[in-house]
Amino acid sequence: MCGIVGYIGSKDAKEVLLRGLEKLEYRGYDSAGIAIVNKDGVHVFKEKGRIAALRNVVDTAVSGTAGIGHTRWATHGVPSRVNAHPHQSETERFTLVHNGVIENYEKLKREYLADIELTSDTDTEIIVQLVERFAREEKDVEAAISKTLSLLKGSYATAILDKQDSSKVYVGKNKSPLLIGVGDGVNVIASDAMAMLQVTNQFLEIMDEELVIVTRDNVTVKTLEGTVVERDPFTAELDESDIEKGTYPHFMLKEIDEQPFVMRNIIQKYQNEDGSVRLEEDIRQAMTSSDRIYIIAAGTSYHAGLVGKQLIEKLTNCPVEVHIASEFLYNMPVLSKNPLFVFISQSGETADLRGVLVEVKKLGYKTLTVTNVPGSTLSREADFTLHTYAGPEIAVASTKAYTAQMAVFTLLAVDTAKAKGIELDFDPLQELGIVASVMETLCDQKESFEQIARDFLSVTRNCFFIGRATDYYVCLEGSLKLKEISYIQAEGFAGGELKHGTIALIEDGTPVVALATQDHVNLSIRGNVKEVVARGAAPCIISMEGMEEKDDTFVIPTVHKLLTPLVSVIPMQLIAYYAALHRDCDVDKPRNLAKSVTVE
Ligand code: F6R
Repeated sequence: MCGIVGYIGSKDAKEVLLRGLEKLEYRGYDSAGIAIVNKDGVHVFKEKGRIAALRNVVDTAVSGTAGIGHTRWATHGVPSRVNAHPHQSETERFTLVHNGVIENYEKLKREYLADIELTSDTDTEIIVQLVERFAREEKDVEAAISKTLSLLKGSYATAILDKQDSSKVYVGKNKSPLLIGVGDGVNVIASDAMAMLQVTNQFLEIMDEELVIVTRDNVTVKTLEGTVVERDPFTAELDESDIEKGTYPHFMLKEIDEQPFVMRNIIQKYQNEDGSVRLEEDIRQAMTSSDRIYIIAAGTSYHAGLVGKQLIEKLTNCPVEVHIASEFLYNMPVLSKNPLFVFISQSGETADLRGVLVEVKKLGYKTLTVTNVPGSTLSREADFTLHTYAGPEIAVASTKAYTAQMAVFTLLAVDTAKAKGIELDFDPLQELGIVASVMETLCDQKESFEQIARDFLSVTRNCFFIGRATDYYVCLEGSLKLKEISYIQAEGFAGGELKHGTIALIEDGTPVVALATQDHVNLSIRGNVKEVVARGAAPCIISMEGMEEKDDTFVIPTVHKLLTPLVSVIPMQLIAYYAALHRDCDVDKPRNLAKSVTVE
């Protein structure tokens, strides 16, 4: 959450920073700002709203070859120009941007800054005020910043300018992501490499509690105690075209359409020459030697975890528990003797998951991260990583990352089953190939889903999704997609559970989307549909070939029964997309949300 950029080179920094922030807008978009340093001092421009609004207030006459920028997702203090970053110290000597949450900011204010009036409601401002305070005492900027950073509790990624020395940008991080991009006579700073692909594809990782001094020609990494650390850059395997919308009106639609390609990519990446599944031996060992798997995830990734549990239990007989990351540590279950913790995260940065990862590592348990961003915090810190190969996902609502996660779980489950000597009549790579083709067929029928959205959702305030068995998990995801982008109150329910209370909400015309792709529960879900129809509901039934009935709204071509969620979610994604579109919602950047949830 929140995006940071920085530039120090020979060109005017303004446009690079603004373009970088546009690429990071998915991380937060309630206010934004930049600061440019030149011989006249530091010039700060900030505005409430999107980067487009910021562009309107940036003085084009001001130029400078170093600067920092920020796009915000508010935690402390409402979205406003005053609370927007950059923040400045008392005498405006230091200017700073920050991503994260400083948990002890009130204590630090009392202890060190009782005599000054803060100008914003943020936790961030404390950092820049402390830097100035300590710089006055220590007379050494590096020492002042190191001292400040070592006092902070919580998470931060920060970039700091000093008006008295425009040749440097100071950078530090703890738990929040931040990278240094390395160029020729230019260096940059970014929360995510994609923001600075415009300058370089060479990036340097920063570890927690390091201080990095970035100049035009040098990057010096030090521990907070001052020891210099040597580190080589890595090449970001991203292409600028991966992060462009192209001819699509929205990233979400592009990403929905990319799902067949993602499936084929996963098949290719995980296939041996003889057609078998290729997975690392270490992961296989961890899977086969554990007596219970604990999946930890949030949101859409949690929904993928529920399907992952089905796949692993059905194919390997190993028990699996799925836990919401933010709840796990407060309500820890009794653990088995040899647990394996599997973290599912598109971004690999979700703070709630990292909290669990840190704790279970302390307990000495093995950890695996399934992520779309290898090199992300969760990937670096877990023992093993499985890459979902979905390509950058920019729309805040997750689509292709979800189906990629389930595809990778299929391969993980099959590989584990084989290693355990379990006979399977199931060729996962071939079945995923069929999934890819069916996805294509569904994506080609967008008008049907647009029509469904128009018929069922154009005037409604609420909607229910019902399903049984694995369909129930897809209903949870379908309802999340709908509510997060269209703001229609939507709930996913197990078909049989509705009548234990929630059916009271069904009235004339209430839309109920029922999913029927599971043979063994087809009759029961049809019964549940009749119950809601008898109370006035408007049913939209999405079924699968072989199970369809005369009045079904849409019938999905058949795929292997374990893989139905990979295709049945596509109608849900498209219905949500069109419902949001018809309501004039900002599909890619829904209100109050951000893509990468790096605060707890
Ligand atoms: C919903 C969505 C979120 C994320 C959740 C976890 O469309 O994208 O629910 O799934 O914030 O994020 P990751 O997977 O990055 O850990």
